[in-house]
Amino acid sequence: MGLITPNEYEDLRSLYVGQLQYLLSTETQIVKGLASMIEHAQDTQLKQAFQSHRQETEVQADRLRQMLTELTDDDDDKKDPITTALISSGTNIVSESSEGPVRDAGLLATAQKIEHYEIASYGSAREWARILGLSEHARLLEQTLNEEKHADSLLTSISQRENSEAAAAA
Ligand SMILES: [Fe+2]
Repeated sequence: MGLITPNEYEDLRSLYVGQLQYLLSTETQIVKGLASMIEHAQDTQLKQAFQSHRQETEVQADRLRQMLTELTDDDDDKKDPITTALISSGTNIVSESSEGPVRDAGLLATAQKIEHYEIASYGSAREWARILGLSEHARLLEQTLNEEKHADSLLTSISQRENSEAAAAA
């Protein structure tokens, strides 16, 4: 298995490496973004959900680092611009609201947008790993994908209560 140079998407394998690099950027940005969301969320259950997902995210980033080490010696630090934009939309919600259920509802919506983006990205990466015969990668990516889906459904259940509280706060 030869090392390849990223940024040259001449085949599925190089595209896959690029996808893993963008995913690593996504996860490292989320670790920081969640720190701010934990600080600004008021609801205890929401804070706990963000906290436990932050720990999970650190493990997900480590998985990606491990996979990338096997494929490339280029530690190109790609920055995923979509994640940057999604996190900054959460920052805007914080700056344009005060602490309470309305802000929490906005933070929940932002977190779910990020989860859905991750679910789409990990779904493609897992499929590419499978096609490329990287079965251990496919297994690890499936594990992360399941964690993201679980985080998303937990946020959905919290949002059902939080949205009602936000409506009552009006
Ligand atoms: Fe993640």
